[in-house]
Amino acid sequence: PRVPAPRNEPILPYAPGAPERRELQATLKRMAGEQIDIPLLIGGKQVRSGKTDTVRMPHRHSHVLATLHEADASHVEQAIQAALAVKEDWARMSFTSRAAIFLRAAELLATRYRPLINASTMLGQSKTAHQAEIDAACEAIDFLRYNVHFAEQILAIQPESSPQTWNMLDYRPLDGFVFAVAPFNFTSIAMNLCTAPAIMGNVVLFKPSSTAALSAWYFMELLREAGLPDGVINMLNGDGPTVGNPTLASPHLGGIHFTGSTPTFNSMWKTVGENIGRYKQYPRLVGETGGKDFIVAHASAADDVDALAVAIVRGGFEYQGQKCSAASRVYVPESLWPKLKSRLQGLIGDIRMGDVTDFRNFMGAVIDEKSFKKVSSYIDLAKQDGEASIVAGGEADRKEGWFVKPTLVQLTNPRHRILREEIFAPLVGVYVYPDAKYVETLREVDQSATYALTGAIFGRDRKAIDTAMSELRHAAGNIYINDKPTGAVVGQQPFGGSRASGTNDKAGSLLNLIRWTSPRTVKENF
Ligand code: SER
Repeated sequence: PRVPAPRNEPILPYAPGAPERRELQATLKRMAGEQIDIPLLIGGKQVRSGKTDTVRMPHRHSHVLATLHEADASHVEQAIQAALAVKEDWARMSFTSRAAIFLRAAELLATRYRPLINASTMLGQSKTAHQAEIDAACEAIDFLRYNVHFAEQILAIQPESSPQTWNMLDYRPLDGFVFAVAPFNFTSIAMNLCTAPAIMGNVVLFKPSSTAALSAWYFMELLREAGLPDGVINMLNGDGPTVGNPTLASPHLGGIHFTGSTPTFNSMWKTVGENIGRYKQYPRLVGETGGKDFIVAHASAADDVDALAVAIVRGGFEYQGQKCSAASRVYVPESLWPKLKSRLQGLIGDIRMGDVTDFRNFMGAVIDEKSFKKVSSYIDLAKQDGEASIVAGGEADRKEGWFVKPTLVQLTNPRHRILREEIFAPLVGVYVYPDAKYVETLREVDQSATYALTGAIFGRDRKAIDTAMSELRHAAGNIYINDKPTGAVVGQQPFGGSRASGTNDKAGSLLNLIRWTSPRTVKENF
């Protein structure tokens, strides 16, 4: 088969008066006025456990958007049985039929579901319309369409044969189910975590983040409407260990597709280790975890200080700095700092933050109280610490929503905690280095990188860029030259990092899809 050639979904602008804006606003209004009940989804059946939690708007935390039913160990067992019951049918369905389901899902998302998925991402995860559009609409559509294309490319990878002997690779799914565990920060990532294994013929237990349960629920509705058979993806909301521990203890665990924190992935990996004798197979462990993503400027970026300032602001503060790829440490030569500092103070001073349904706002709130408290503690540290000074921002206000002003902190110690620890919020650390110490600074960036997800280099001197590329060879899985370190596009910049940032199985590329198959080699003599 030849699947339709994918193209990246165009980003709608939501300009004042545009039809997509009116439609989105009407959906936002309706959604804010209702309070839905989110069930578990097991074998296509809606299950209400009665043990509930609430989904609230981060930017208006008194407002309950939805009630969420939580799973216990018995629901996990039911979901595993439901997945296994349909496993063989799903695996034997022709690739064209499986592909058609996901292509239809992409088309439904591009049209009728677009306002719904965007609105639920805006209200539930506090994304602006633009941030929701590039994630929940465009990137999610791209994942669906490109993954079908990548899957088809994989099926075409075949060994040599001869007139006497036919050799084949039979791309079977994994023997068991895949456990997809999603973060709150990207609706598209949650969708990719469960649909990438499913496109390759796997059945899935999907554990969304409770704070992103609303968009996850509408996404399940979308897949059902697209024709996904019951039981192929089963959704279990709830507490991490309550859902995770029995899932990881199942002999049928075939793989984990995870995006989230490094400690959570480490703990899952340990649990897998403890259970290793129970499994029918070695589970595939695919995880994208934390980041402490850098921007390094070289003195030759002198003509690009404006672009550098925009990259720091967009890379550091879009979606409140809660992208795993967000810029969180910046290294600037002394010669550029005075001009860059004043540009940054100007840009940051102009940032509007508030309710995401006001389309003029550039930032919403951080996701929850835990996150608010964490970043506040780092801001307090910056205020008290002699090695830190606040260049911009530094205020937080929790009255209505979890609002944290975009904050820039200059550090005089390159090993400061603010330059090493993942904060996952709108706080960016800056270290100003003597121009002559460029290479030493690159080594410092590399040596202090326990994480290695994304990074950016700004400069026009080719040799300086080459030096950075070799000194920072293992410091980032995605490196951007003269651009911000966020915003990888499916099919264009395969995404993922190593060290404490994950297994680097490049989401948005064939390299990810290939993890969800266990090929059988077949030789036939004629
Ligand atoms: N893929 C996103 C980005 O590149 C982060 O997860 O920004």
